[in-house]
Amino acid sequence: MESAEKPRMQGSGSPIQVSRILRPDDANIAGNVHGGTILKMIEEAGAIISTRHCNSQNEERCVAVLARVERTDFLSPMSIGEVAHVSAVITYTSKHSVEVQVNVMAENILNGAKRMTNRATLWYVPLSVENVNKVVKVPPMQYSSPEQQEEGRKRYEAQKLDRIETRQRNGDIIFPAINVDRQSKEPYTVGYSQSSLIHLVGPSDCALHNFVQGGVTMKLMDEVAGIVAARHCKTNIVTASVDAINFHQKIEKGSVITVSGRMTFSSNKSMEIEVFVDVDHFLKSPTETAHAVTAFFTYVSLDKDGKALPIPTLKVETEDEKRRFEEGRNRYLQTKAKRMAEAMKCQ
Ligand code: COA
Repeated sequence: MESAEKPRMQGSGSPIQVSRILRPDDANIAGNVHGGTILKMIEEAGAIISTRHCNSQNEERCVAVLARVERTDFLSPMSIGEVAHVSAVITYTSKHSVEVQVNVMAENILNGAKRMTNRATLWYVPLSVENVNKVVKVPPMQYSSPEQQEEGRKRYEAQKLDRIETRQRNGDIIFPAINVDRQSKEPYTVGYSQSSLIHLVGPSDCALHNFVQGGVTMKLMDEVAGIVAARHCKTNIVTASVDAINFHQKIEKGSVITVSGRMTFSSNKSMEIEVFVDVDHFLKSPTETAHAVTAFFTYVSLDKDGKALPIPTLKVETEDEKRRFEEGRNRYLQTKAKRMAEAMKCQ
């Protein structure tokens, strides 16, 4: 018989589905649901399934924390009143990490019409509840075929390589732009739209331990990126995609985080915004500020019929801004080429 302390976990590998109706506080003033709200729902589903899996065989109780989100595209805007169905399934396990695939469908419950709005891949790492600095071993999953396992291993190796590159970029900084005198700035420059928000990490930002849920951080990042995009265009803007994000640092309850965003690139009908999250553990070490997360968000401006509008070209002034613009253009061209290749494959 099993002891009361170690209940047997049922169906740890089974997919899960979470549904909820989208409310006005999930959306912007035009009624489009924030990308950050969707990212938060995606992350919660991933945290549930991976934490459940990691506790299914382990003696040591653990919480799976978000380590990475792969590039995510927002395929279609969601509206207030629609129901979001978020489903998650574990697709690969390495020794210490779990890959979760999450799909989001939007349903109009008045006529039953459904459409796919997001597909995201997330990586979680289990940390011991007793000692949050200890990474716990992941129970291996059962694959339906050796090919499925091999495909997963390739994705695992690819993201490991990509992580090294992002760590190098994380050396860059954005100075928080809190009280910017925008009247002295020229519209459409980087400085004009650059924005920041400051947030005190409270209990509602944390779930099974005293550290911020990854979804909460992504929601704040999307909020800042959205402010930058709206300041630049002054129209209705929506999140089109988020590049891969790595979470290298736990952010503890009681810390102050500063989330800063600046525009790096504009194409005809899209704009790229780089977002940085800095943590001030002021209660523990008053002088120490650390760089926690960096990500690139792509936004599109929509007219009242949901059609993409032209974006005012970003005016770059300094050498650094020009360099970042060129780097942004390269990312834009690469992802556009990939999207087109995938579209061709589907035809
Ligand atoms: N993406 C995917 N997997 C990652 C990762 C990342 N960014 N960073 C580490 N990992 C995986 C490693 O591949 C390894 O698994 P493997 O042994 O099967 O290959 C496992 O994590 C442990 O790696 P290790 O080097 O022992 O740990 P670490 O010191 O790099 O710590 C984390 C990894 C995730 C625990 C640490 O970076 C962390 O605490 N990050 C913050 C998590 C968090 O709080 N998320 C929400 C933030 S708002």
